[in-house]
Amino acid sequence: MLRISSPRTPLPLKLFKASAIDTQNTLRVRTNSAIEPLPCAPEAIRAARRMMDSHGRTILDLRISITDRCNFRCVYCMEPDVQFQPPEALLSPEEIARLAKVAGSLGVRKIRITGGEPTLHPKLEEIIAGIRQTPDIEIAMITNGSLLTREKLARWKRAGLDRITISIDSVRSDRFSKVTRSTTTPDDVLSGIEMCIAEGLTPLKLNAVLVRDVNDDEAVQLTGLARRFGLEMRFIEYMPLDSAHAWDATKVVSARETREAIEAIFPLTPTNTDDPHSTARTYRFTDGSPGHIGFIAPVSEPFCGQCSRLRLTADGNVRPCLFSTKEWSVMHLLRGGASDNEIADFLIDVTWTKLAGHNISAPTFVQPQRPMSAVGG
Ligand code: 5AD
Ligand code: SF4
Repeated sequence: MLRISSPRTPLPLKLFKASAIDTQNTLRVRTNSAIEPLPCAPEAIRAARRMMDSHGRTILDLRISITDRCNFRCVYCMEPDVQFQPPEALLSPEEIARLAKVAGSLGVRKIRITGGEPTLHPKLEEIIAGIRQTPDIEIAMITNGSLLTREKLARWKRAGLDRITISIDSVRSDRFSKVTRSTTTPDDVLSGIEMCIAEGLTPLKLNAVLVRDVNDDEAVQLTGLARRFGLEMRFIEYMPLDSAHAWDATKVVSARETREAIEAIFPLTPTNTDDPHSTARTYRFTDGSPGHIGFIAPVSEPFCGQCSRLRLTADGNVRPCLFSTKEWSVMHLLRGGASDNEIADFLIDVTWTKLAGHNISAPTFVQPQRPMSAVGG
């Protein structure tokens, strides 16, 4: 039996004193409530050199937000007046590479580069190449698809990028501008999709968030993209991670409602091949058409039971969950002279704090302060 509490002391605080970013001298820098220290994982857990939580789950998948900046202002994510962090507050390419190496040594097998919009980062190629130094890691990236060129995609691929996921919430120009509050058009993103396929950054996935009375009637048209390009189109339920804190349950279009709308035109058959750690339940087209549909239902059917994910914010905090109201600063360790071993202990300790799950629909649910763009989707 593993002990839940540990008699050992947390990592020495002197490690965090040197920070120019946070003079609070604490591991936990941003929460919905007061500051508190990071508890230690039990000895046996630290000794296993794997990131295991107290609910029997192991971290295999690290999502790294490399910037909180974005050229879109999607209605479900970012308000027009959002404030971004100064560059010096963000993890550097070297710091990201180091964290990837430590995470890889602890069993992480997949790293997803997220944002904000990661393609805005001036050193994206260097970041990819830095992560690539860690062996046996799949590197994926999520982008809004607005700034892609063949040349950039080829460079990122050469640096070590394996796969891309593109967000597209509408194929109608007027709608697209309304959702993203940008000057990008659906055609720009469609040509980005074609370029990713041509460069072999596949399997390519597309993400859409349907919001009630905004784009809730577009499930079938978006499904057409899966059939046309032979790729996976995924519908993600709108989550309370918007910077405006304007989310409410009536604006959520459930996975079930979306599936029913699609099936009225294109019948679907479950693939029954989903990785148990995957967030999506996938379907193929019953008529044999190429392409797949995935449903990600964190609101109507929370899938925390098999969660294998940990998140790193652009400013160097580790979050056990998208919906965590606590996050812990690894930036202090990186810039305070900590060894790889101490960083590994820290990641193991943060993982141990992972809660069993969230229940967005519960009356006790508290929306995290930070939006998806800061947390890394
Ligand atoms: N709810 C659901 N998905 C969101 N995303 C961003 N904000 C939200 C939200 N509030 C999605 C983006 C992108 C992925 C990283 O997360 O559309 O596809
Ligand atoms: Fe930018 Fe993605 Fe947020 Fe849209 S959802 S504003 S593309 S970070």
